[in-house]
Amino acid sequence: MLGKTIQDAMNEQIKNELFSAHQYLSMSAYCESATLPGLSRWLRAQAQEEWGHAMKFYDFIQDRNARVVLKAVDQPVIEFDSPLEVFERALEQEQKVTAEINELYRLALSENDYASQAFLQWFVTEQVEEEKSVGDVVETLKMIGDKAEALFLFDRELGKRENEE
Ligand SMILES: [Fe+2]
Ligand SMILES: [Fe+2]
Repeated sequence: MLGKTIQDAMNEQIKNELFSAHQYLSMSAYCESATLPGLSRWLRAQAQEEWGHAMKFYDFIQDRNARVVLKAVDQPVIEFDSPLEVFERALEQEQKVTAEINELYRLALSENDYASQAFLQWFVTEQVEEEKSVGDVVETLKMIGDKAEALFLFDRELGKRENEE
């Protein structure tokens, strides 16, 4: 059975991951409206991945005979000034999630909860990847600046991302 503190924290993390999904989907909608279908598709796939993260916590809580408690998901940001702003915010969001995962890990350590530590390892590794992939997009968008042709080509490139869970 999962300890009460870590159970509460993991339920909170379901909310955080669902918020990430919500925020990425809102970013996807913005890019679609800005005629950037490739960025939009990439962000939508990212939203789906975040939903998958929420479900990993959902399943783990239940596998440990604890109770899943869903909470209200906050309102995401809807408007952005540019695709660069979208991805800069996305990077900030990933850094925030990394801090949340680290805090959960710290909790699992302090409670000698080895199963949770093993489970959270996946997220620790995943966050390194998430920060890198979003950070790479930020760097490329900075390089592109206001060169419309380069943005057009990059949008095409990002649009090749396959949907994954
Ligand atoms: Fe996530
Ligand atoms: Fe993420």
